[in-house]
Amino acid sequence: MTTATAPVPASAPKISQTQMLIDGEWRDSLSGATFATINPATEQRIAEVAAGDAADIDLAVAAARKAFESGDWPKMDARDRGKLMNRLADLIEQHLEELAVLETFDNGKPITDSRTADLPLVVDCLRYYAGWADKLEGKTIPIRGNYFCYTRHEPVGVAGQIIPWNFPLLMAAWKWGPALATGCTVVMKPAEQTPLSVLRMAELAMEAGYPKGVINIVPGYGETAGAALVKHPNVDKIAFTGEYKTAQIIMREAADTLKRLTFELGGKSPNIIFADADLDAAVEGAYIGLYLNQGQCCCAGSRLLVDESIHDDFVERMVAKAQQRKVGDPFDPSTEQGPQVDKTQFEKIMGYIDVGKKQGAKCLVGGDRAADTGYFVQPTIFDGVTDEMDIAKDEIFGPVMQIMKFKDVDEVIERGNNTFYGLAAAVWTKDVAKAHRLAAALRAGTIWVNCYDVFDAAAPFGGFKMSGQGRELGEYALRNYTEIKTVTVNLED
Ligand code: NAI
Ligand code: MG
Repeated sequence: MTTATAPVPASAPKISQTQMLIDGEWRDSLSGATFATINPATEQRIAEVAAGDAADIDLAVAAARKAFESGDWPKMDARDRGKLMNRLADLIEQHLEELAVLETFDNGKPITDSRTADLPLVVDCLRYYAGWADKLEGKTIPIRGNYFCYTRHEPVGVAGQIIPWNFPLLMAAWKWGPALATGCTVVMKPAEQTPLSVLRMAELAMEAGYPKGVINIVPGYGETAGAALVKHPNVDKIAFTGEYKTAQIIMREAADTLKRLTFELGGKSPNIIFADADLDAAVEGAYIGLYLNQGQCCCAGSRLLVDESIHDDFVERMVAKAQQRKVGDPFDPSTEQGPQVDKTQFEKIMGYIDVGKKQGAKCLVGGDRAADTGYFVQPTIFDGVTDEMDIAKDEIFGPVMQIMKFKDVDEVIERGNNTFYGLAAAVWTKDVAKAHRLAAALRAGTIWVNCYDVFDAAAPFGGFKMSGQGRELGEYALRNYTEIKTVTVNLED
């Protein structure tokens, strides 16, 4: 791996928005408080952003409620809602470079990833859901008696959306897409680490012509702004992506108002490489599946289970790849790995590397920080990992790979499922029957066969067990944002 030098972006991007968006107006927080957002590559402050708390959430929820109950939004034809979403997607496409730079500046992800992955996926997601806006159809139901019975799929109301920092714009798009298509209104709280790109996207939404109050953004901390949103009686639903421990708090706090809840949480996803796999493809897929986005992916293939008969060959190739991974200035187009998002995440990862070494795993590559300045971690590989080690059980959320050996199919199914997580799993084999057998047996929301990290706005994504509740993306995500209403009409004269 190349050593990172203190990275400085070619020129500091324009920050057009650091305030909160409430009822179509950009404003400071009522308290006047702000928080600093940091460039993780330089550890320097980028900007001060309005820090919302319960009072600001009150205003935002009132605006969202009003926009939901009266005004232009509930009267708008469904097809025009779709048109607005397409207009926003077009504007994002026109400002793709600006948004990509902002994303990289605030989050640290390589500019090439922002340009070629995050932003195109955002545009695609909004266009996909634009197409759903006028296709929310109910049923006519043949009940007993002389009645006409039908269902309407109505918007759930005001949606509180709390998102993390690993894919700031994409997580916003995954949440806005189904909410806006179904006619809900939104109060979003972006992650405190990465508020800037979402604020800019919200400016573009205003430019696209969304009626005021439909999209409200309240930046701030989870314990203040986030918690207030969760408790608010006028919020109908919370959609959350982040840590399972936060979801546990949200579930408890939402009990008083019995809110609808959907969660997209973490994972410790098994990536299973059989001896009959195309080894080149499996090495590449396992490498991407773990190191993508600095390892900060909920679906990271962080338990690499390799058939013992190919283990040595596999490890040799993986070590060679990890050693060549280019770590450094995220604004250099050839950079493959930038810094971790913040000091807390950096320290968490370094702590797990320490624990891995202490518990007896073999650190073959990396294992250290990769620069004196910035939250850079060397691409790291642990071999000889056993199921009971902490690094085999916990979500590390960093560029740290765990390699384990297995002998046979039944054993690997059992070990693959031996976790409270269930977000994703992958299987590499040329044996079709074996692939389908594992696809059925592994308890996870997504199974990739001979591929990894293949995402599409049309394909549902979410977790079994403690990896989540409900599904994002695809038609399934619309269910999170609709109530079913049954209408029964007496047809007797
Ligand atoms: P987190 O779950 O605390 O933060 C995610 C979002 O929830 C942020 O917007 C945060 O402000 C908000 N939040 C925090 N506490 C809240 C509360 N009490 N009520 C309402 N909202 C609240 O995750 P964090 O601390 O950033 O990362 C910790 C670990 O979580 C990571 O190391 C990683 O393992 C995991 N994680 C998983 C993600 C995923 O994509 N599934 C994304 C981010 C983190
Ligand atoms: Mg947290």
